[in-house]
Amino acid sequence: MFIKVAEEKDIAPGGMKGFSLNGRDIALCNYGGAFYAVERACGHAKARLERGALTGWILTCPLHYAQFDIRTGEALSGPAPRAPDSRHPDPADPALETKGLKTWPVKTEAGLIYVDLP
Ligand code: FES
Repeated sequence: MFIKVAEEKDIAPGGMKGFSLNGRDIALCNYGGAFYAVERACGHAKARLERGALTGWILTCPLHYAQFDIRTGEALSGPAPRAPDSRHPDPADPALETKGLKTWPVKTEAGLIYVDLP
């Protein structure tokens, strides 16, 4: 069921807005006038992703810089290694793992944004 969550004018291109609805935490992203809804908590350590940076369709986590594709939720890269290990990061280090984000369908109508939540 599509539920109204915001007005288009509330989120500028390249902007994001976080909210909770029906027990789900969602980050709503504006990529060039198209809106995408992804899980708000980072797949690494649950940082609030709307506080990160949106560059095109790539969302970068504000805490350790993991990156996600907002169109699919796919994790594109894991968190950055900590400073002492950064010269020789261990790719098998569980601290560097992240998981992708859930996504939800979005539609716009008459300036309003709707997200399809089960
Ligand atoms: S919390 Fe997002 S990369 Fe660590």
